[in-house]
Amino acid sequence: MESTDIAARIRNHQPGHALARDFYTNPAIFERDMERMLLRHWFCAGHVSSIPRPGDYLVVDLGQESVIIVRTFTGEVRALLNVCRHRGSRLCSGRSGKAQSARLTCPYHAWTYDLDGNLLVARQMPESFRRTDMSLKTLLVRVMEGLIFTTFAKDPLDLGNAADALARSAGVHGWATAKVAHRELYSIRANWKLAVENYTECYHCTPAHPEFAKRHVYARPAELNEELERAGRTRAAALGIVVPDIDQYGCAAGPGRESVAVMRSALHDGIVSATDDGRSVARLMGSFSAPDGNSTYFDIGPISDFLAYPDHGVIYRFIPRTVDHTEMEVIWLVHQDAVEGVDYDVERLTWLWKTTSAQDKKIVEMNQAGVNSRYFEPGPYSLQETYSARFVDWYLKELSP
Ligand code: FES
Ligand SMILES: [Fe+2]
Repeated sequence: MESTDIAARIRNHQPGHALARDFYTNPAIFERDMERMLLRHWFCAGHVSSIPRPGDYLVVDLGQESVIIVRTFTGEVRALLNVCRHRGSRLCSGRSGKAQSARLTCPYHAWTYDLDGNLLVARQMPESFRRTDMSLKTLLVRVMEGLIFTTFAKDPLDLGNAADALARSAGVHGWATAKVAHRELYSIRANWKLAVENYTECYHCTPAHPEFAKRHVYARPAELNEELERAGRTRAAALGIVVPDIDQYGCAAGPGRESVAVMRSALHDGIVSATDDGRSVARLMGSFSAPDGNSTYFDIGPISDFLAYPDHGVIYRFIPRTVDHTEMEVIWLVHQDAVEGVDYDVERLTWLWKTTSAQDKKIVEMNQAGVNSRYFEPGPYSLQETYSARFVDWYLKELSP
């Protein structure tokens, strides 16, 4: 597909409607998504507690790209491109690991790098070869409230507002001193934008997520929740919990700034956590001296979303891979001192979001199957899908020539 064809499709978009079929199916548009949006923004690579010691690493993917997020000897978190400087092999496979003897050794011809990406060993190279020219390429990294963010951008979007918003959300929830209790990877046969649009709206929550809808008032239209939300704010205020709503989502972030949004919403009466019985599942985190019956939704950039309860947290990492394949990693956080089997039970902790994520995978794949039809015509968004509409506006703006 030519650039002019993409531009014409952007011009033909009907405001307030879903995107046309090609945006979800055309590989050339996926390439444009990568260049113009996904490689430009910051995204969450995980939580620092996953790599506590020097040499511990995570492998995070985006499209065809892969990055090693490693803890160095100085305690820093570094992001190294997972591409050997010899003939390009991936250095690390799997989702996480530990560098043997604090070295990253390529499995192909054994070029060996230190944890900062400097090349240490390359056998049988000609005299003119200079090891110092062959360090692994690096990406920028920012750790905020225990969350690791990275970006492929050379000239990155400003994170000042995002850092402030995270301090006032994840910070209040104690995420800087949390630990990962469980990780789950979902493979979704759908375009990444269908997965993200689905995450940004709760129009589907009542029909598709009965378990979520019984616990979160957010499943219902806002006008039905005014009293419950007010009661939730009163409960929070009584405990001294202050988490302001922040809306700098998408285009609202302003030029050169990363998108960020924070929103609090109440749980139904008597529910204090995302559990089967609505009771707490782990010890309280951060500033909470008691559960306040609310949840905090926040997001940074287009593919990193977060949800915090007083006693645990959930990270959603959307990982666009190809035009019709997206992965979603869900990571559960608990207090760093919580002991599995004593303070929390993983089954109980993960039940709601395992149930909900399996439902989302199914509906998003059904959505893709329908959108693949030559007869698909984008329909109008409802009043409960305003964030999806804003996501689409933002996306088209970023893709525009
Ligand atoms: S490709 Fe890595 S050592 Fe050859
Ligand atoms: Fe959903």
